[in-house]
Amino acid sequence: MVKVAESLYVFPLLLQGALCNAHSNVKGNGTETYARNLLLESMSWMDMYYDAEAGYLYSLDAAALTHETRASAWYASGLLARNDGDDAEQAMMIIRNVIDGQHKNVSSQWFGDYQIYPEEPTVGTAQYHPVIYNSWDPNWRGFVGTTFVLMLEEFPHLLSHDIQQYMLDSLYNTSIGDSYRVGGVDDDNLYPAYSNPSIMRAFVTGWTGRRLNESNMTTAGETYAQEVIDLFNRANTLSEFNSGTYAGVSMFALTLWAKYMPPSSVMGENGGRMIKETWATLGSLYNANLKNVAGPWDRSYGYDMNRYLSILALQLWTLVGKENAPINAKPYAMGHKDDFAIGPLIAILAPFHNTLVDNTTFSALLKFPGTHAVETSAFSPPFDTYPRNITTWMSANLTIGAESFSENVVGGPAKNPNSFNPAVVQWGRKDGSVGWLTLYAQVKDLIAVAGEKSLNLTYPTGNSTSMFTFLVSTNSKAGNRDVSSWADVEGVDVTVSGTIDPIYKVTFNGLVGGAGSPINDFEMWNFTYTMPPGSEETPHVLLGFGLA
Ligand SMILES: *[C@@H]1O[C@H](CO)[C@@H](O)[C@H](O)[C@H]1NC(C)=O
Ligand SMILES: *[C@@H]1O[C@H](CO)[C@@H](O)[C@H](O)[C@H]1NC(C)=O
Ligand SMILES: *[C@@H]1O[C@H](CO)[C@@H](O)[C@H](O)[C@H]1NC(C)=O
Ligand SMILES: *[C@@H]1O[C@H](CO)[C@@H](O)[C@H](O)[C@H]1NC(C)=O
Ligand SMILES: *[C@@H]1O[C@H](CO)[C@@H](O)[C@H](O)[C@H]1NC(C)=O
Ligand SMILES: *[C@@H]1O[C@H](CO)[C@@H](O)[C@H](O)[C@H]1NC(C)=O
Ligand SMILES: *[C@@H]1O[C@H](CO)[C@@H](O)[C@H](O)[C@H]1NC(C)=O
Ligand SMILES: *[C@@H]1O[C@H](CO)[C@@H](O)[C@H](O)[C@H]1NC(C)=O
Ligand SMILES: *[C@@H]1O[C@H](CO)[C@@H](O)[C@H](O)[C@H]1NC(C)=O
Ligand SMILES: *[C@@H]1O[C@H](CO)[C@@H](O)[C@H](O)[C@H]1NC(C)=O
Ligand SMILES: *[C@@H]1O[C@H](CO)[C@@H](O)[C@H](O)[C@H]1NC(C)=O
Repeated sequence: MVKVAESLYVFPLLLQGALCNAHSNVKGNGTETYARNLLLESMSWMDMYYDAEAGYLYSLDAAALTHETRASAWYASGLLARNDGDDAEQAMMIIRNVIDGQHKNVSSQWFGDYQIYPEEPTVGTAQYHPVIYNSWDPNWRGFVGTTFVLMLEEFPHLLSHDIQQYMLDSLYNTSIGDSYRVGGVDDDNLYPAYSNPSIMRAFVTGWTGRRLNESNMTTAGETYAQEVIDLFNRANTLSEFNSGTYAGVSMFALTLWAKYMPPSSVMGENGGRMIKETWATLGSLYNANLKNVAGPWDRSYGYDMNRYLSILALQLWTLVGKENAPINAKPYAMGHKDDFAIGPLIAILAPFHNTLVDNTTFSALLKFPGTHAVETSAFSPPFDTYPRNITTWMSANLTIGAESFSENVVGGPAKNPNSFNPAVVQWGRKDGSVGWLTLYAQVKDLIAVAGEKSLNLTYPTGNSTSMFTFLVSTNSKAGNRDVSSWADVEGVDVTVSGTIDPIYKVTFNGLVGGAGSPINDFEMWNFTYTMPPGSEETPHVLLGFGLA
C-alpha cells in the first residue's frame, strides 16, 4: 500500500504559481505541467458551455439549450481547482443547484440519484416513466457523489460551511439510494463485477459513513468493497476489463480509495495495489507506436483511441503529455467527446495517481518495448460461466487481442454488442494512422485465441445459421475510398480459412449512406461470413495477418 501524503493540495498550490518539487522524481517531471494543461484545456472548453445565469453547464450535445447535471458537477470541481475570479462562487451555485435537483422520495428506486438535466419532468409521473439508464441513471449517484467527496477533500477552504453541510446531506441520501441497488432486482445490474460503479458505490458509501459516524454505512461500504477486491484478486484484473472509457473510470475511483480512505479501510489498504496492477496490465497491452490499448475490450466506445476520447487517454495525457497520448489536438472533435468534461477530476488526482504507475509501465507508455504475448483472465459473475481467457499478441505495428467466454447473454454483461469487442486487431498504416478490425459480438460462447499474426475463432455452440461479422476501419485519406474485398483494406494482408463459406459479403456502415449506420461514431466496412447451407461443422474461422 503506497500513500503519498505530501501530494495533498500540491496541485491547487501549483496552479497559483507556487513551485513544488514533491513529484519531480516521479515519471519524469511532467505530471504537474501535464495535469495543469489538462485542467485548463478542459475548463476553457467547458467555459464556452457555461450558463452563469442558470448555474449549470448547457448540454455538451447542445440540445436546444437544455442543461446537464453530471458535466456541471465535474465543471464545478474544475472551477475550484482553477479558482480564478469568481470561480469558487460559481462552483457553489452549481453544487446547490445539483443538490436541489436530487431525487428526494425515499421510497422510490431512484432516491438520492441526481437529475439527468434540470428541465426534465418529474421521474415517476404518468407522463415520465422511471426507466433505468434512460429517465434516470443509477450510476450518476456515483459520478456526482465521488465528485462531491473530491471537492470536500481537496477544496474545503473554498466551500462555505452551509454548502459543505448540504453536500454531506446529499451524500447521505445518495448512499442510502445506492443501497437499494441489487444486481438482478428491479432491472438493476449492479453486481460487484460491474467494476466502475461498484468501486464508486463502495467509496461514496464508505467515505460518507466515516464522515458522518454512520457505522452501518461505513460497514456497507467496506463489505461491498471487499466483494470487488475478492473478484479482483482472482487474477489481479478488473471484471470490466481493458476499455478506454471504463478502465479510466475505475482507475479514477480506485484513486479515491487509495487517496482518501485510511489504511484501516479495505479500500485504503487495497486501492493503491489495484491501481498498480491494473496499470501494469494496461501497460503490457499498450502499443505506444499505435497509441492504443490492444484488445480485447469489454466495453469500448470506439475502435481507435486516437479518434475517440477515452478517459484512459486523459490519464495518459497527465502521464506522458498530450502530444504523446492518444488525444487529438482538438479533443472536442473526437468521438465520445463529452467525456472531456471529466478532465478536471483526472487532472486534480494526477499528482497522486501517477505515483502509482510503476517504471516499467510508464516506459511502455512512451516506447513500445518489443514483441510479446499477454495472457490473463477476467471474470464477471453472474454472466460468465467461466472466467474469460484473454490472449493478446503485441508487435510494433500489429496487435491482436481476444477473449474466450461462455456467458448467459449476448454482447457481454452490458448486453451491448456495440461496445463488447471480444476479438480485435489493430495495425499501423503508412501515414501513421491506425487500421482496425473487430468481431461483432453475436454469440454467448466464443473460443478466441490470438497468436502470432493470427486470430482463431470458434463458436462451440454455433450451427449452420451462425455468422462471423468483422467490422473494419475505413482507409486513411491516402487509401481507397471503396472497399469490396480484403485486398482493398489498407495496410494489412488478411487470409481467411475455416468451416465458413469462403464467399463473404462486404457492406458499408456510413454517416449518410450504406447498408448500416456508424457504431460509436465510427464509420466502418462490414465483412460478413456465413456457413455453407446445411453445414454440420462447428463454425470456425482462422484469420492470418501480415503488414502490407
Ligand atoms: C524535466 O523538466 C526539465 C525542465 O523543464 C526538462 O529539461 C527535462 O527534460 C525534464 N525531464 C524529464 C525526464 O521529463
Ligand atoms: C414516492 O415513491 C413511492 C414509490 O414509488 C410512491 O408510491 C409515492 O407516491 C411517492 N411519493 C411522492 C410524494 O411522490
Ligand atoms: C434527503 O432525503 C430526505 C428524505 O428522506 C429529504 O427530506 C431531504 O431533503 C434530502 N436531502 C437532500 C439534500 O436532498
Ligand atoms: C464523529 O465522531 C468523531 C469522533 O468521535 C467526532 O470528532 C466527530 O465530530 C463526529 N462527527 C459527526 C458528524 O458526528
Ligand atoms: C444498523 O444496522 C443494525 C443491524 O442491521 C440495525 O439494527 C440498526 O437499526 C441500523 N442502524 C441504523 C441507524 O440504520
Ligand atoms: C523509477 O524511476 C525513477 C525516475 O526515473 C527513479 O528515481 C527510481 O529509482 C525508479 N524506481 C525503480 C524501482 O526502478
Ligand atoms: C512500424 O511502422 C513505422 C511507421 O510506419 C516504421 O517506421 C517502422 O519501421 C515499423 N516497424 C516495424 C517493426 O515494422
Ligand atoms: C479458460 O481456461 C481455463 C483453464 O484452461 C478453462 O478451465 C476455462 O474453461 C476457460 N474459459 C473459457 C471461457 O473458455
Ligand atoms: C483453432 O481453434 C480450434 C478450436 O479451439 C482448434 O481446434 C484449432 O487447432 C486451432 N487452430 C490453430 C491453427 O490454432
Ligand atoms: C441454430 O442456433 C440458433 C441460435 O441458438 C437457433 O435459434 C437455431 O434454431 C439453430 N438452428 C439449427 C438449424 O440448429
Ligand atoms: C453486417 O452485415 C450483415 C449482412 O451481410 C448483416 O446481417 C449484419 O446485420 C451487419 N452487421 C452490422 C453490425 O452492421
